[in-house]
Amino acid sequence: MTRVVLAFSGGLDTSVAIRWLQEHYQLEVVTLTVGLGGDLDLEASRQRALSIGAVEAYATDATEEFGRDFILPALKADALYEGVYPLATALARPLIARLLVETARKTGATLIAHGCTGKGNDQVRFDVATAALAPDLKVIAPIREWRMSREEEIEYALRHGIPVPVTQASPYSTDENIWGRSMECGVIEDQSRPPPEDAYTWTQSPLTAPDEPEEVILEFEHGEPCRLNKRALPFVTMVEELNALGGRHGVGRIDMIENRLVGLKSRELYEAPAAVILHQAHRGLEALTQTRDSARFGELVSQTYADLTYNGLWYSALRRDLAAYVQSEQRHVSGEVALRLHKGSCVVVTRRSAFSLYDIHLATYGGGDAYDYAAAEGFITLWGLPLRTQSRVQPLTPDLGDSPEKP
Ligand code: ARG
Repeated sequence: MTRVVLAFSGGLDTSVAIRWLQEHYQLEVVTLTVGLGGDLDLEASRQRALSIGAVEAYATDATEEFGRDFILPALKADALYEGVYPLATALARPLIARLLVETARKTGATLIAHGCTGKGNDQVRFDVATAALAPDLKVIAPIREWRMSREEEIEYALRHGIPVPVTQASPYSTDENIWGRSMECGVIEDQSRPPPEDAYTWTQSPLTAPDEPEEVILEFEHGEPCRLNKRALPFVTMVEELNALGGRHGVGRIDMIENRLVGLKSRELYEAPAAVILHQAHRGLEALTQTRDSARFGELVSQTYADLTYNGLWYSALRRDLAAYVQSEQRHVSGEVALRLHKGSCVVVTRRSAFSLYDIHLATYGGGDAYDYAAAEGFITLWGLPLRTQSRVQPLTPDLGDSPEKP
């Protein structure tokens, strides 16, 4: 009998999918549950899959690998989609796809299935990542195909004796891992309303967050955070601590209108305290240690890196090559940054690095000034030369019709 490996979260969709794949495609279903931080009970999820009818069920905690091979490279690249979204969901997909492929190889499955709808980016990420890693495996997306409403799914579950998850169904569609929580659907879709408070579960409202600000000190080595408040911590532990710390101060809430790969705009809410704090700190340190040219070029790299990640192209050669560039470019991004967390805001307050390019003797307006003012004059003469030449030969005067205000 043909086998499929289903990415199984334990929720209603993927529970129904086990039976639907058996019934609709006559497949043997192997499930894989991947833990990426959070309180998903892996063993319970495995047992649940078996009880619904999976022939084999696997569960694995991949949080550490997620941190090391996906989050850290994206952090070093300053990858924020559309300058804002830290990509928690997007980064997790290529890892889950890889684990699905491994499970397929191990169990002799020739198909892969996931619980994504036909409207989001995640279907693209799973399908494309699988295609990159294992072009011979076919991908099925039951929810994209069956198009049952939630009520119809519950009815299907009851009809087939599938226990309906007892957890109070959230009015939102959510996805979470250690790098952040993503929320959409329900009243979030209404642009005219501020984000509903109950969509947030990791973060305190900035309105009720403590009146006292709190400072955190982050130390980086070659672009990687290694110490939090002077304590050396494994990356995952640091992210967990920063999620708690930032969450208490209402840091990390994001409300954005996002351009989905599949052609539509959507309103998305995120909460990602650790991601927001670490990105701020990392950029703060780069500002000190990178040249202007590296910083400018880095912006292009960040944007492309984020787009590739968001658009499901993690396993592209370009993403990998950019990662190699980023790795090299981080060699002097070492030092310490202090940030102040206060009622939803997170700002860098001090920075320090042995590789700092900031030279107080050059920058100061006070005593000890070492700047060469005569050189400034000569520099400006040459810098302005093209404009002086141009204004002599091609004067730009509004009455010539060159003013941008005139059509
Ligand atoms: N819009 C985000 C992305 O494409 C998050 C999607 C999250 N999925 C969800 N079921 N809420 O990465």
